[in-house]
Amino acid sequence: MLTGITTTGSPHLGNYVGAIKPCIQVSRQSNVQSHYFLADYHALIKCRDPEVVHRSTLEIAATWLALGLDTDKAFFYRQSDIPEISELTWLLTCITAKGLMNRAHAYKAAVQDNAEQGEDPDFGIAMALFSYPILMAADILMFKADSVPVGRDQVQHIEMARDIAQRFNHHFGQHFVLPKAVVDDNVAVLPGRDGRKMSKSYNNAIPLWLPEKKLRKSIMKIVTNSLEPGEPKQTEGSALFAIYAAFADVAQREKMQRSFADGIGWGDVKQQCFELVNGELAAARVTYEALLAKPARIEARLMEGAGRARELAIPFMQQLRHAVGIRGLG
Ligand code: TRP
Repeated sequence: MLTGITTTGSPHLGNYVGAIKPCIQVSRQSNVQSHYFLADYHALIKCRDPEVVHRSTLEIAATWLALGLDTDKAFFYRQSDIPEISELTWLLTCITAKGLMNRAHAYKAAVQDNAEQGEDPDFGIAMALFSYPILMAADILMFKADSVPVGRDQVQHIEMARDIAQRFNHHFGQHFVLPKAVVDDNVAVLPGRDGRKMSKSYNNAIPLWLPEKKLRKSIMKIVTNSLEPGEPKQTEGSALFAIYAAFADVAQREKMQRSFADGIGWGDVKQQCFELVNGELAAARVTYEALLAKPARIEARLMEGAGRARELAIPFMQQLRHAVGIRGLG
């Protein structure tokens, strides 16, 4: 299993519930070889601010470590520390049909935006946006991943990686494992404070590592309706309930459901929600802060992870170079 995290931005509760927490749980299972990496080359495609890319890499790495990723079992590295990934990207670029890339949703959306604005279709579109799925295929195929947990928006990219792998195998022999996307419907898409999907771009996100007081404030700002204490409330469609439920165990969730029916006041729910979320994060927050204060420790863990990943990547790349005819002449 393998997944990448693009390093633009700070982690929020939605990332935690939807991706980080389930992945860390998998990393502790002994029967799965798991790879998690910081997709900093992907970050460059949409972000031209070096400070943002750098800071985000630090924060995301610290987050996964603070939350207990088992880096003895799992492979944890930064994409850009594995030069073989770039090398593989080129080999794959050489066999990928341009027509396949034309169909990528992200690229098509950018072209359509341009059309709507009356711009040239290529306006503002970098080659990297166009060939983004090829870099992603290299990330995946390099480590022979078969399961790739991703959000719905990324499923097409995994299908493209599969196509590209098949085409390579067809021409050069069976080298790549065909990956499949894993979209977990049980993992709730967490709503943000306004009820829409929690996302940095909607400005409704609750950052994961807010200090306690600010976390409380942010939870207090979750939008509710105007029902008074004593009036029965619906859990369905309540962002506050959804956020509470994402952190609650079964018993806590059922109890809260009953409280809603019994007319608990919104203020009470918010307080309980804060306590629950804070309770889950408080210890890790201390570790997170300690890691941020000593970035060299994070760097060392990443270098160690890159070393382990390259033990797999270097010989595999050698095999692939040989397969396409890039061989020593001696
Ligand atoms: N493109 C993915 C995203 O934006 C991140 C990513 C990069 C990725 N490489 C990957 C995810 C490989 C899964 C596998 O979410």
